[in-house]
Amino acid sequence: MKRLAAPAALLTGALALAGCGGSAGSDDSGGSRAELSVSSSYMPQPVSPDMAAGFLTVVNKGGTADKLTSVTSTASGDVTMHSTMGGAMKEKTSFTVPAHGRLVFRSGGNHLMFDALKRKPKQGDTVTLKLTFAKSAPLTVEMPVKSATYNPSTGH
Ligand code: CU
Repeated sequence: MKRLAAPAALLTGALALAGCGGSAGSDDSGGSRAELSVSSSYMPQPVSPDMAAGFLTVVNKGGTADKLTSVTSTASGDVTMHSTMGGAMKEKTSFTVPAHGRLVFRSGGNHLMFDALKRKPKQGDTVTLKLTFAKSAPLTVEMPVKSATYNPSTGH
């Protein structure tokens, strides 16, 4: 039984490499597109009645970079994307999602800003977002509203 484990591990490793490199592969039927998905989305319950922040990660499993170009939401008529550099935040019109990489929005860094909230989101609510990209089809995100002090690394 033990002998079976090693070849299986080698095979998995070889497949993973083939999927990532591209140069040795002859499969160009879709291997060069961005493959986007969203994870770890949450909104801390806002303190202010008309402004909230949101965080999420866009994962790209594909071999081509894409760009997040806009975010819209049913909860707010005005969603903007901000970066934080040295403590100062700046509005951005797009964010790159690198090939085989991720675009991370997290507390203290890049974030989404919801202005003009239609109503104040409360813990347990879900806010629906639509992410629009330069090349890929839009993604819909159901963003859960967590406590005002939620910390994703501890889960509460
Ligand atoms: Cu901001």
